[in-house]
Amino acid sequence: MTTANVGILGARGYVGRELVRLILAHPHLNLAFATSDSGAGKPIADTIPGAPHDLRFIETESAMEDLDAADVLILALPNGAAEEVVKNSAAPRLTIDISADHRFHQDWTYGLAETFGEDIRTASRIANPGCYATAMHLALRPLADLGVASAHCFGVSGYSGAGATPNDRNDPNTLRDNILPYALANHGHEREASHHLGMPVRFAPSVAPFFRGLMVTALVTLNEPIDTDALGEHFVQHYADAPFVRALNAETPSLHNVVNTPYADIGLLTVDRNDPRQVAVVCAIDNLMKGAASQAIQNINLALGLAPTDGLLP
Ligand SMILES: NC(=O)c1ccc[n+]([C@@H]2O[C@H](COP(=O)([O-])OP(=O)(O)OC[C@H]3O[C@@H](n4cnc5c(N)ncnc54)[C@H](OP(=O)(O)O)[C@@H]3O)[C@@H](O)[C@H]2O)c1
Repeated sequence: MTTANVGILGARGYVGRELVRLILAHPHLNLAFATSDSGAGKPIADTIPGAPHDLRFIETESAMEDLDAADVLILALPNGAAEEVVKNSAAPRLTIDISADHRFHQDWTYGLAETFGEDIRTASRIANPGCYATAMHLALRPLADLGVASAHCFGVSGYSGAGATPNDRNDPNTLRDNILPYALANHGHEREASHHLGMPVRFAPSVAPFFRGLMVTALVTLNEPIDTDALGEHFVQHYADAPFVRALNAETPSLHNVVNTPYADIGLLTVDRNDPRQVAVVCAIDNLMKGAASQAIQNINLALGLAPTDGLLP
């Protein structure tokens, strides 16, 4: 396999930094350019320790003038900015949008490899899923096969989920010793999970004062009763061929085990003994990895015909 050149727009953001790190370590990907308007001209190593000292951020404008330098373009831009770039540029061989701009777009493939892997293999435009939407999808997809009457999710995320640009949801004073619930109806990831699962999902997110990682607890009413062993076996079978999903059965997922990794851990599977149609599932991921950057690399690997784990697992 020859090496593919990857360009990143928005490389100095939280997700962009992870992408740079993963691409520099990837055996079949080469970093073509990394943009940051606020950091243009500065060594990438100042922001991303371990990056080679001769690499520097460049301006968005100069990257756009030479897009041919990239076989793969990753848009790690704020929501709303990616759509503008795509409209005004020639399409490279493969484009991955990390933002929410194309997650409902019919010309884009939704990049949740555990469900849509076959579509991703032939895709040229991939909309990378949202972080919470990823955890909800992975927790609920096996249950959808069993028949779901209702699904409610409660999520807690570290504040890196709100990006590096200061805002209400990453303000250290608000978050100190606190938990901040927000968007209790109509959250974009509620709509996203519902759309791509093909069933209604309610979602209540919160931000907590740790930096990275998120956990979603799904409370689900199934159409039919189930027992704990059958539920556990169902998850194990569903994810038997998924290298980045670990089905833990009754074991409680921990952020400690997923942060800085490409894994999703799904566990604490629980069945109500009085009404065995009522089940609970917990999914933990690193929002910056499986919720964004490592998921993007997983999608690039599939779309370029590489092994799914290339550059992600030793
Ligand atoms: N954080 C997460 O957990 C997470 C998870 C999944 C998806 N996402 C999505 O991923 C995208 C990036 O998130 P993030 O958390 O990395 O955000 P971020 O930390 O705020 O970084 C955004 C990057 O884009 C650059 N930028 C801002 N506005 C721009 C514009 N108009 N044109 C070109 N570049 C611009 C920024 O500034 P400079 O150019 O000055 O460097 C920075 O490098 C967002 O769409 C977010 O919704 C985030």
